[in-house]
Amino acid sequence: MVSYKDLGLVNTREMFKKAIEGGYAIPAFNFNNMEQMQAIISACVECSSPVILQVSSGARKYANQTLLRYMAQGAVEYAKELGKNIPIVLHLDHGNSFELCKNCIDMGFSSVMIDGSHLPYDENVALTKQVVDYAHQFDVTVEGELGVLAGVEDEVSSEVAHYTRPEEVVDFVTKTGVDSLAISIGTSHGANKFKPEQCTRNEDGILLPPPLRFDILEAIEEQLPGFPIVLHGSSSVPQEYVKIINTHGGALKDAVGIPEEQLRKAAKSAVCKINIDSDGRLAMTAMVRKVFVDNPAEFDPRKYLGPARDELKKLYMHKCENVLGSAGRVE
Ligand code: G3H
Ligand code: 13P
Ligand code: ZN
Repeated sequence: MVSYKDLGLVNTREMFKKAIEGGYAIPAFNFNNMEQMQAIISACVECSSPVILQVSSGARKYANQTLLRYMAQGAVEYAKELGKNIPIVLHLDHGNSFELCKNCIDMGFSSVMIDGSHLPYDENVALTKQVVDYAHQFDVTVEGELGVLAGVEDEVSSEVAHYTRPEEVVDFVTKTGVDSLAISIGTSHGANKFKPEQCTRNEDGILLPPPLRFDILEAIEEQLPGFPIVLHGSSSVPQEYVKIINTHGGALKDAVGIPEEQLRKAAKSAVCKINIDSDGRLAMTAMVRKVFVDNPAEFDPRKYLGPARDELKKLYMHKCENVLGSAGRVE
């Protein structure tokens, strides 16, 4: 059993309190490898932002759970070496069982998500409460979820999406004791968040997605004043990356995300954690494809992963500075 406190990590409690009071959101960036971790930490140090490092079960399978945990420990030391002791949370993204959450808590995670959103309500309550009861013994914070997001990724998929029902949130939070609540108000996982027929097109033919349901968010905030709310599926799918990918041998069709202005608006509310993974995947892929096309003789991984990492860092800084408002929040 390793305590996250001994690794220099923090849980989300204080972070979320400050974010709600300050009208900004904490970035939750997924990582699976060293370059992503370096980009996240160097970006957040440079713009003085707190950060949540997220590990999905897909990431655990890909990179090895132990290595990822040591990388997070390394991230704390790396941030200090870069000159700023920013608060860093190590968070399990979309935990799907008590055993997985327990395993992460036991190996040094400071926060876990138990995603029972696909279960019948009472089963979601029971599973979430079981995780909270275990986690709180070790001062680990827990994110639960109510409502089902659309979209498909490796380990996260849903056929039937539905918005969070504001009339359920007080009962869920009270019965489970969760520290934060992920909600469904129209965000979606992946790079194809909406079908073209759900969107309109502007004069340049760019797809414009349906707006987020801020009315539902407001109704939830009325039920749970000051309670930390989380948005998953919040990549914006920058069209410049889609274009680079598609002009360098890629084939992304109808890729569309959540407009950044809407996320900025959400970040000013009780939304205090915003999950971004796909945008980073797009940034990396765009740069790797560009190097391969521009310099087909290149075969040193540092020569394509390096530019991908630089672009990722730029993207993350932009998110903190211009979208989430988390930059400059660490003294
Ligand atoms: O919401 C899911 C995250 O983007 C992680 O995706 O399961 O493919 O690692 P993954
Ligand atoms: P995106 O696919 O929009 O980046 O969402 C990531 C996410 O919600 C991770 O949990
Ligand atoms: Zn998610």
